[in-house]
Amino acid sequence: MGDEGFPQHGTAPESLLGALREERRGDLDWRSGRAFSLVYNVDDPELEALQHEVASMFLHENALNPFRYVTLLRMEGELLSMVRDLFGAGAAALSSGGTESIFLAVQTARDAARARGVEHPQLLCAVTAHPAFPKACKYLDVEFTPLPVRADGRADPDEFAAAVSERTALIVGSAPSYPFGVIDPIPELAAIAAANGTLCHVDACLGGFLLPFWERLGEPVPPWDFRVDGVTSMSADIHKYGYSYKGISTVLYRDRDLQQRQVFMYDSWPGGLYASMSAAGTRPGPPIAGAWATITHLGTDGYLRLAERVLTATRGFRAGVESIDGLLVTSNPELSVFEFGADPESAHAVDIGAVADGMDDRGWNLDRQQGGLHVMLSPGHDRVVDAFVADLRAAVAEGGTARDNDQVYGGVVEG
Ligand SMILES: Cc1ncc(COP(=O)(O)O)c(C=O)c1O
Repeated sequence: MGDEGFPQHGTAPESLLGALREERRGDLDWRSGRAFSLVYNVDDPELEALQHEVASMFLHENALNPFRYVTLLRMEGELLSMVRDLFGAGAAALSSGGTESIFLAVQTARDAARARGVEHPQLLCAVTAHPAFPKACKYLDVEFTPLPVRADGRADPDEFAAAVSERTALIVGSAPSYPFGVIDPIPELAAIAAANGTLCHVDACLGGFLLPFWERLGEPVPPWDFRVDGVTSMSADIHKYGYSYKGISTVLYRDRDLQQRQVFMYDSWPGGLYASMSAAGTRPGPPIAGAWATITHLGTDGYLRLAERVLTATRGFRAGVESIDGLLVTSNPELSVFEFGADPESAHAVDIGAVADGMDDRGWNLDRQQGGLHVMLSPGHDRVVDAFVADLRAAVAEGGTARDNDQVYGGVVEG
């Protein structure tokens, strides 16, 4: 793969598309309900058709200069006001994904720290924070300090209180964390930040577009957003539980002054004033149009309907896992994302890697983490609860030892 060189001759669309259709038959089918990460299966053909239509409508347009494509400009403006309203934010910006939103929040905090004279800014987070934080620290020259979590898998405020210093540019909490689906004690973390005159970011990339609706369904949700004093920024991805297709996230601020640190303006070249709010230069039209169409189409009613399906799936999957002797859900998660592994207290010893193999053999695609298997539930998973639990029960009963136990999340394609 990848050693063919630049093609000498072109290929006709029909032959190229035919070959791709054939090749894709072996790819992971996310509509089946048997995949648990990377794609959110909304199981809503009408929404999917709408997304295809708007994506092709705006396929070639570029929001680099928003004043050239005024429909995109209007949609972006409306999106920003919708998300400010949903999250009670003072200011918002779009980005291409969770990682870019996190980069922007870290850059803003780094520059705020520099402005108060800090030479070597530092970021504090729990070890469960997403790798986008160490990545942002590497790229932006911020010292990354991951801290141990409590026995319940949540950030430990005592560790933060001991580690915070005048160099701390940003304290980070997750709502929820990716590995365990648990919400860090945001009020305690935000209070430590405020008491030390620094900023506090809530990474709600994963949960941001589910939590407000989860709460409205009456589910217990610990304080996690701008209603908590001391929270200064948040990230929330429309391309996760916002159910739009990839390439769209939001970075939100309590106040506009902080967001100003994110703005880039440059006119010392001959090409005219270059102004930009995020890392990207060229910004593709389809993610903006898709997010606008998705939120406008679904509305609060639609998000509540989908949250209810996610809740049904979550209850079914958790109850199923918990009903199987030898398995344990890690850390009592608040949301629809969780890890389960072998219960060390159980008389029934389980090799969780062998269970993963058994589930692979039955056509499921569970992600392997260091401590167990990871589940992230979408609306479409409510259709497969019984099939999943039956296969999991069979895979546990089958026993055996793991064939391989690689715990892999991302990957590098070198060229
Ligand atoms: C909690 C959390 N933060 C950040 C990210 C990064 O988002 P992205 O992959 O869109 O860059 C993820 C992705 O899963 C996440 O779960």
